[in-house]
Amino acid sequence: MSVDPGGSGDGALPRNAPPGGAGHPLDPPDGAAVGGSATDGPVPGDPNRAPAVRDMFARIAPGYDRANQFMSMGIDRAWRRIAIRTLRENAKGDILDLCAGTMDFTAALAPGARSVVALDFCAPMLEAGMAKIPAGANVRTVCADARALPLPDASFDAIVIGFGIRNVPEPERALAEARRVLRPGGVMVVVDFFRPTTLAQKFFAGTYNRVVLPIVGGLVTGDASAYRYLAGSMAAWYDRAGFEAACRTAGFTTVAGRELFPPVASLVDARVGA
Ligand SMILES: C[S@@+](CC[C@H](N)C(=O)[O-])C[C@H]1O[C@@H](n2cnc3c(N)ncnc32)[C@H](O)[C@@H]1O
Repeated sequence: MSVDPGGSGDGALPRNAPPGGAGHPLDPPDGAAVGGSATDGPVPGDPNRAPAVRDMFARIAPGYDRANQFMSMGIDRAWRRIAIRTLRENAKGDILDLCAGTMDFTAALAPGARSVVALDFCAPMLEAGMAKIPAGANVRTVCADARALPLPDASFDAIVIGFGIRNVPEPERALAEARRVLRPGGVMVVVDFFRPTTLAQKFFAGTYNRVVLPIVGGLVTGDASAYRYLAGSMAAWYDRAGFEAACRTAGFTTVAGRELFPPVASLVDARVGA
C-alpha cells in the first residue's frame, strides 16, 4: 500500500483538509467556550482545549521538525531508538503511531513493519512529515482524534505514542481506545515528558521548559506562546506513576516505566496479556 494523504477510508486525511482540521466531530458547537483559541492559544490542563491544541500544532507544523532538532540537540533520536527497541518482535507487525505528528516514528518503523497507521488530528502536521515516508512503505495516514479512533478492535500488534498524549484532554479515553485496538499480546510504548517529581527531573525540566522551549521554539517557529503551552502542559498532567496507574485502569496488564537520559523524558511500556 502506498502513502495516501488523500485516502478515502474513514478518518483518512482529506487532500484539502483545512489548516488545523477545523470542523472535527469532537469540536464544541459554535460559540461554546473552548480551552483557548487560535489567537490566545490552548490552556494547559483545560479539558476543552482540543480545538486550540489542533490550531496551535497547525501553526507550528511547517517549522516543527527544525525546532525539534534544535531543542533536543538530537537527543530525541536516541529516545526514539530506545522506544522502538522496546517494541521488540511486535515492531514487525501492524503498528499504530498515535499522535503521529510529522511521523518520525512512522518513518523509522515502516521499513520493518507489516503496516503502519499514522494517526493525528492535525492534518498539517501529517502533511509536513509526508516526505519522510520511504517509497513503497505500507503506511496509511488517518486524521482523527485519539479519543475516538476510527479503527477496528484488536487490529494492531504495537502502538507508539511520542510526545503526544500529554496534549490530549481526557487521556484516559485515549488509553481505553489504545487498549481496544491492540491485539492480545500487543504492546504500547509511550515516550513523553511527565510531571517532574525528583530533584534531578525538576532541575532539568525547569531549565528546559523555561529557557530552551520558549526561546529556541519561538525563534525557529516564530510562535513562542506555543512552546510556552508545551512547557506548561508538562506540569499540568500526570507524573509517571500516575500515568502508569491510568494505563492499568485502561486494561493494560503489565505496565513498567523508566526515566530516560537526560532525565527530562520517560518511557512507559504497557502490554496486554496474550
Ligand atoms: C508534540 S507532537 C508529537 C509528534 C510525534 N509523535 C513526535 O514524536 O514527534 C504532538 C502531536 O499530537 C497531536 N495531538 C494532540 N492532541 C491530539 C488528539 N486529541 N488526537 C490526535 N492527535 C493529537 C498533535 O496534533 C501533534 O501532532
